[in-house]
Amino acid sequence: TMVVTESQDKMYYPPDDLKRDAHVPDFNSYLALYRKSLENPEAFWKEVADDFFWKKPATGPMLQYNFDVTIGNIYVKCMEGAKTNMCYNVLDRLVRERNLGEKVAYYWEGNSPDHHMAITYSQLLSQVCRCANVLKKMGVKKGDRVSIYLPMIPELVYTMLACARIGAVHSIVFAGFSSESLCERIMDAQSSVLVTADGVYRGEKLINLKQIADEALEKSNIMTDFMSGICSLFWCVQTPWDSECDVWWEEVMRDSPEECEPEWLDAEDPLFILYTSGSTGKPKGVLHTVAGYLLYTSLTFKYVFDHHHDDVYWCTADIGWITGHSYITYGPLANGATSVLFEGIPVHPHVGRFWEIIEKYKVTKFYTAPTAIRLLMKYGREPLQKYDLSSLRILGTVGEPINPEAWQWYHEAVGKGRCPVVDTFWQTETGGHVLTPLPAATPLKPGSATFPFFGVEPTILNEHGEELEGEAEGYLVFRRPWPGIMRTVYRNHERFENSYFKKFPGFYVTGDGCRRDKDGYYWITGRTDDMLNVSGHLMSTAEVEAALTEHPAVAEAAVVSRPHKVKGECLYCFVSLKDSREFTHTLVEELKRLGKIMRRILRQIARNEKDLGDLSTLADPKVVEELFSQRCEAA
Ligand code: PRX
Repeated sequence: TMVVTESQDKMYYPPDDLKRDAHVPDFNSYLALYRKSLENPEAFWKEVADDFFWKKPATGPMLQYNFDVTIGNIYVKCMEGAKTNMCYNVLDRLVRERNLGEKVAYYWEGNSPDHHMAITYSQLLSQVCRCANVLKKMGVKKGDRVSIYLPMIPELVYTMLACARIGAVHSIVFAGFSSESLCERIMDAQSSVLVTADGVYRGEKLINLKQIADEALEKSNIMTDFMSGICSLFWCVQTPWDSECDVWWEEVMRDSPEECEPEWLDAEDPLFILYTSGSTGKPKGVLHTVAGYLLYTSLTFKYVFDHHHDDVYWCTADIGWITGHSYITYGPLANGATSVLFEGIPVHPHVGRFWEIIEKYKVTKFYTAPTAIRLLMKYGREPLQKYDLSSLRILGTVGEPINPEAWQWYHEAVGKGRCPVVDTFWQTETGGHVLTPLPAATPLKPGSATFPFFGVEPTILNEHGEELEGEAEGYLVFRRPWPGIMRTVYRNHERFENSYFKKFPGFYVTGDGCRRDKDGYYWITGRTDDMLNVSGHLMSTAEVEAALTEHPAVAEAAVVSRPHKVKGECLYCFVSLKDSREFTHTLVEELKRLGKIMRRILRQIARNEKDLGDLSTLADPKVVEELFSQRCEAA
């Protein structure tokens, strides 16, 4: 079904120089491998696993699963019976067996261009072992959770790999989240240690992380008893301190030994929890396990970025999101890659910062978000012209649909028309890319994530759960697992089954809408649930509504998404105030009487779309006119 035929869409073909030494050099090779991955998954994944170290081989098949709630519990298992360690595979294996000790793992580039350092694989290994010993000394054992609230500094990578080494489960909370969000995540994970920093500059703005962390711990008062903090000092002077439970990073790391035997884990032991927004408002602790996640992130990284040993790869995401977990830490390290680890933001100290860094490190593969591209587009091509971007070979995007205009600009202005743009569709839940082009194999259509990755079998369903063939639009679902798919929602398997498997038994439901065109290309059309995507970050309308109604003045709130030029989508909030005269009280009452607020109509009001269709279910359709007349333009 996936033959590339004559098409009216403009196609971009892979450049010849890329094909010459590519892992997957043409579309037929992709098709052959893809077929093998579906027809003989056992042999396909076995070959991938052969690259890695197994303390004990698997006793079960490469993949076992049930995706049908009507049959029994949902489960996925990869390489049951095998014993291994993630940290050993991404560090020791390379240093010991591949002789990569002296190779740079990360070029760390600070928020300020004056701060930078290179970290080799062997340096990384010894820092990780030290940190692992520190955690052990603090009483952290296999299976314990460690919350990490750190900015994009090397210590973040050390800590996550230290957890992986001793079998502790890391739960990273993006260091831009509030104390409430941090508290909620610490409580849900029942972490015994929190690792944070005193503070960080993001652009010109100072964020006092330790203070926020303290607030979070105060809110979760049951935790303070067994919570210890490790802190690293950077630029702030006045750090709030409680010597009963806080310890300084530098002090404990200094005396910690550089040798640490890895904990040999079962293939299906948890590796990490990462929270993602859920449509009910409460975040879901997405759980990933060791072996499957290793196989999947390493293979997607290798093929999607066509990795070669002399590459310098840069993913601009924050490790606090899944993109950073899979494609800054685990995927690149598993391949022995050299990456840039960037602490700052695209526009500090100037709007050419990205391009300056690409020139400085001669970046060959560059992976960013459509929202960043749209932001930088606003400044035109002039900031790019000062820098030599000729090292670039492949460009990537992730996080949200990319509009063809931004795609074109990325391709022409940044890639000078020489570099394929891989538009990678995936989710926190999928662990790695699931729909994506392969840069030397797939003819591209701007805005399409093109075709499934190996082992992934997508299909499109209509509202009744019927599969749609050929050209079609509907719900994007997957018929079977691949090794990197999530295993459960932490401590809530029922929620896992209800969120992803209930609606259409037999399928994993992504929550995204999708169109398949006549050439078989997949196009993500956006969320089908009450979720929205602001600057590549997924959030639920319920979550925002709950936050709004917490304010004492607010009686009710409804939140919908509205397209935004740079952010992709933005929040459009309808708020009714308690006892307010100005905000036409009657109108608020009318809305309340509706019972269930008609979100479709609110969305259209937000977008100023006047053709509203059937309004007969509304108690008072005049409300709609009033809302239109009070529309305000978003910034
Ligand atoms: O709606 C899709 C959108 O982001 C959602 C997943 O968000 P999250 O779990 O935070 O992970 C983001 C990074 C992988 C998806 O359900 N999304 C992600 N990538 C794309 C995308 N939408 C369109 N095109 C993409 N390439």
